[in-house]
Amino acid sequence: MQLIHTISELREALRQYRHPAVVPTMGNLHAGHLALVRQAKPLGDVTISTIFVNRLQFAPHEDFDTYPRTLEADCEHLEAAGCDIVFAPAEAELYPQAQTFKVHPPTELADILEGHFRPGFFIGVCTVVMKLLAVTQARTALFGKKDYQQLMVIRNMVKQFALPIEVIGGETQRNDAGLALSSRNGYLTPAQREEALLLSRTLRHIAEAVRHGETDLARLEQEGMHALRAAGWLPDYVAVRRQSDLHAPQPHDAKVVLAAARLGTTRLIDNLEI
Ligand code: PAJ
Repeated sequence: MQLIHTISELREALRQYRHPAVVPTMGNLHAGHLALVRQAKPLGDVTISTIFVNRLQFAPHEDFDTYPRTLEADCEHLEAAGCDIVFAPAEAELYPQAQTFKVHPPTELADILEGHFRPGFFIGVCTVVMKLLAVTQARTALFGKKDYQQLMVIRNMVKQFALPIEVIGGETQRNDAGLALSSRNGYLTPAQREEALLLSRTLRHIAEAVRHGETDLARLEQEGMHALRAAGWLPDYVAVRRQSDLHAPQPHDAKVVLAAARLGTTRLIDNLEI
């Protein structure tokens, strides 16, 4: 496995390949990221993982400075998962000047749910992903369903810019108790890790109710918010939406239930397809 820090070295390394399969990440890798790398492996002739903590997608009050940076351990995990190239640029390499050209995703996809509570988040995500897809010459790119809206926004970006890239979604990886794996779980105390199970439990409860024919989605959403608040969480949203664009579903639309909530100072998100 090669560890590459510069765009020019990456271009050189990629000359011999025709079909890079790319897994963009911010590092501090866990089994969720590594499952995407294993899924990528048969889909291209070279598997690339990028590691870059993207300042553009963090609001000033968010955890950019404290976001865990664990390059050495990440590389060990990636090598074991069969990754061929790790591209880990310094900030000055990817953003040598202020990044003033940006990708602005449309309001109706990107200013709802996560985008409503994290204004500008998807501008930062789309801008860096566009750049990472360009520098890695991706032909296939994999993103986790854990960040469901991110996957939906990126799919639409790639389609509307007619990028010659297939976007593939990977299933959310969970621990045995059901907690979705996340780099931010590392901020939780052992007691909070137990409490954190309430998020996936709440989603499972709502998904079951919808599967059994419950049609009052607003009531289910409110009950979900209430259950989280009653246990001391600060929920941003609990929402049942249609999978395709995350707008309000019609009865026969394929649905997904999504939630974001803060437990102490840690903001967790999760979702379940119904
Ligand atoms: P990061 O949070 O590091 O996640 C990298 C990729 O791993 C994303 O596609 C995410 O959805 C996926 N992932 C995270 N947890 C997962 C889990 N439990 N199961 C399956 N997949 C999981 O998402 C980002 O980085 C950034 O926004 C990025 C796309 C790299 C742009 O900066």
